[in-house]
Amino acid sequence: MNVYELNSTEKYHKETFSLEAMVTMATSIDSVINLNDGTAMPMFGLGTAWTDECSQAVSYAIEQGYRMIDTAQRYGNEEDVGKGIAMSGIDRKNLFIVTKQWQNGHDACIQGLQRSLVRLDMDYIDLFLIHGPREGRNVATYKAMFELKKQGLVRSVGVSNFNIHHLEGLRNAGLPTPSVNQIELHPWLQPREIIDYCKKHNITVMGYSPLVKSKMLKNQQICDLAKTYNKTTAQILIRWSVQHGYITIPKSSKPNRIKENMQVFDWTLTEDDMDFLVRII
Ligand SMILES: NC(=O)c1ccc[n+]([C@@H]2O[C@H](COP(=O)([O-])OP(=O)(O)OC[C@H]3O[C@@H](n4cnc5c(N)ncnc54)[C@H](OP(=O)(O)O)[C@@H]3O)[C@@H](O)[C@H]2O)c1
Repeated sequence: MNVYELNSTEKYHKETFSLEAMVTMATSIDSVINLNDGTAMPMFGLGTAWTDECSQAVSYAIEQGYRMIDTAQRYGNEEDVGKGIAMSGIDRKNLFIVTKQWQNGHDACIQGLQRSLVRLDMDYIDLFLIHGPREGRNVATYKAMFELKKQGLVRSVGVSNFNIHHLEGLRNAGLPTPSVNQIELHPWLQPREIIDYCKKHNITVMGYSPLVKSKMLKNQQICDLAKTYNKTTAQILIRWSVQHGYITIPKSSKPNRIKENMQVFDWTLTEDDMDFLVRII
């Protein structure tokens, strides 16, 4: 199946959203969402922060069907991610690679992307994110990202860890709307205001740390749910993200977990259990 086909999504009704009742939800690992610049982006991928044996993990994930890989200059693993992709033997154009600019500022961003491309051994990045806001420097960094997009070195431009006032700063500067805002997102961190803002402005929400960095996998309430569904606690948390329509990128270094984490598309949490997880805090 072509990962860039747009027909592999369906509408999911979730009343808890204040702005839109209908959201697009991934129905398979191949599901994509259409970003506001027309680029199709896979809705499920592999996180790679602080991954041991990163090349092997990336290569294995691709063999299993993962098509989006999330890395960052800050993780110091772009070279290993690139090696893992090469090891997998997949055609690069069938992947969606996300990396993040760590140092803010115009020139730092231009140079940063060039270094990322060398480390990843690639000609272009699919989605380039500002890793985090820095007061007074966001506009310059963001402008540089669009220069890189114009040159064809980046397909889509986005941000990470941006709050409303950071996004408003870009808007007030008359700059294009970011395609994606990558934020921490799981049942214990559901920043409604920023999610609603992103929906209103057609910015796709990409959630990170869906497994709460493994800190809540032994939570009794999640364990009870996992037992009911005959799933693992990791799968319950990932399914929660998927069912909300969030792009999600669980990280694991371990083959059995990489496989386990993608097995979240052929079953459903009930509306009652989704509501329970919305209120779990
Ligand atoms: N933009 C940002 O500022 C930002 C910040 C944080 C993260 N991120 C991105 O989001 C990705 C995911 O977030 P994260 O790495 O913070 O945390 P996470 O995905 O919530 O959790 C990863 C942890 O869960 C463990 N784990 C994974 N699958 C498991 C399973 N099935 N059963 C039990 N344990 C499991 C992993 O250990 P093993 O590896 O040993 O399996 C690891 O310790 C990152 O890797 C990164 O790409 C972005």
